[in-house]
Amino acid sequence: MRMQAAIMYEQGKPRPYATSKPLVVEEVELDGPGPGEVLIEVAAAGLCHSDLSAIEGIRPRPLPIVIGHEGAGIVRECGAGVTDLKPGDHVITVFVTSCGSCRYCVRGRPNICSSGNAARQAGTLLSGAKRISRLNGERINHGSGLSLFAQFCVVNRRAMVKIDKAIPLEDAAIFGCAVMTGAGAVLNTAGLEAGEPIAVVGLGGVGMNALFAAVAAGAEPIIAIDTNPEKLGLARQWGATHTFLATDPDCAEQVKAATGGGLDTVIETAGTIKAMEMAYAVTARGGRVVSAGLPAADAKFSYLHGALVSDEKALIGSYMGSCVPERDIPRFLGLYRRGKLPVGSLKSGFLPLSEINAGFDRLADGIVLRQILRPNG
Ligand SMILES: NC(=O)c1ccc[n+]([C@@H]2O[C@H](COP(=O)([O-])OP(=O)(O)OC[C@H]3O[C@@H](n4cnc5c(N)ncnc54)[C@H](O)[C@@H]3O)[C@@H](O)[C@H]2O)c1
Ligand SMILES: [Zn+2]
Ligand SMILES: [Zn+2]
Repeated sequence: MRMQAAIMYEQGKPRPYATSKPLVVEEVELDGPGPGEVLIEVAAAGLCHSDLSAIEGIRPRPLPIVIGHEGAGIVRECGAGVTDLKPGDHVITVFVTSCGSCRYCVRGRPNICSSGNAARQAGTLLSGAKRISRLNGERINHGSGLSLFAQFCVVNRRAMVKIDKAIPLEDAAIFGCAVMTGAGAVLNTAGLEAGEPIAVVGLGGVGMNALFAAVAAGAEPIIAIDTNPEKLGLARQWGATHTFLATDPDCAEQVKAATGGGLDTVIETAGTIKAMEMAYAVTARGGRVVSAGLPAADAKFSYLHGALVSDEKALIGSYMGSCVPERDIPRFLGLYRRGKLPVGSLKSGFLPLSEINAGFDRLADGIVLRQILRPNG
């Protein structure tokens, strides 16, 4: 079938993106779903900082590519062997397609599936196929096994979770990355318990979900840190007990003074080395940093090794919030329904495909949380 898609041919184009157009909206051909695959009409797709990092070129991608990894849509056709979904079903997409049988999947860690990771690097679906091509026949790579910056996508059955049709798809989309990553970092990777103190460094779409989850889990105190004073105001409104401006030269000292020497759990959700240094600095002796931010692929974080040992600090990575999507998406939707994950309040407007580049200018300016692309208007 023919559809419109936003293709990235080149990484690292200059700003403003509204002028340089790193994403080129074009008519392309989409193959039908192969065995175990599903055709989805993309109803809503969030603009995430990971997409921005791909546009900036600080995280390399196979080119040309259709990116977009946070979304929700409607099933339009099921490939052979897909018997548990039918046209019309609503789904949230999952940006790590898991195989179900590698050493990570069998240990309950589908978020770090080795087959899913290999397919992502190769720009294919889990089957090895590429389903999008230009009208001249050139094959286009898939971003995260999904390619959601398009009107439709063909993806593996394991790259989605069916949801209740009562949930607005514009809110549902945000669960596909920001909620799983932010809430999952707090509730899964950190396994936060009620009454435990926590800090969140970096209050974007991902960090605000970490904050919501900390409030839902009964964390106390909840420290929120960002370079942008406006994000601090929102964090206070959404349950942070204390906020600190990361650009204050003595920010880490202020946090330590307010918390009797730092926090036991610090979540880093900014994706910069400076933020990681802040997170490490405000972690108490015996505490842990859970890092979900994704800086440039070659960025290195360093620390005093001796102090790591004598302070017994721990550094933990968190990919897709250590989620098992079939388990956690329903769990997080339950919190959302009860008002504990007010994900809808993160929406900073809607965009058609034709405005996607300007949307990334706004994300780079740090003035928005989650902008929602509606590729079908
Ligand atoms: N681990 C995962 O699975 C996963 C999934 C999605 C996104 N990410 C990554 O998470 C990060 C956040 O994504 P997002 O979409 O929420 O981004 P965003 O741009 O919406 O938010 C980033 C926030 O960090 C703040 N910030 C920047 N530098 C800071 C510093 N030095 N100290 C404190 N705050 C600082 C910004 O002001 C902004 O509020 C990105 O690096 C993204 O690539 C990781
Ligand atoms: Zn993302
Ligand atoms: Zn696997």
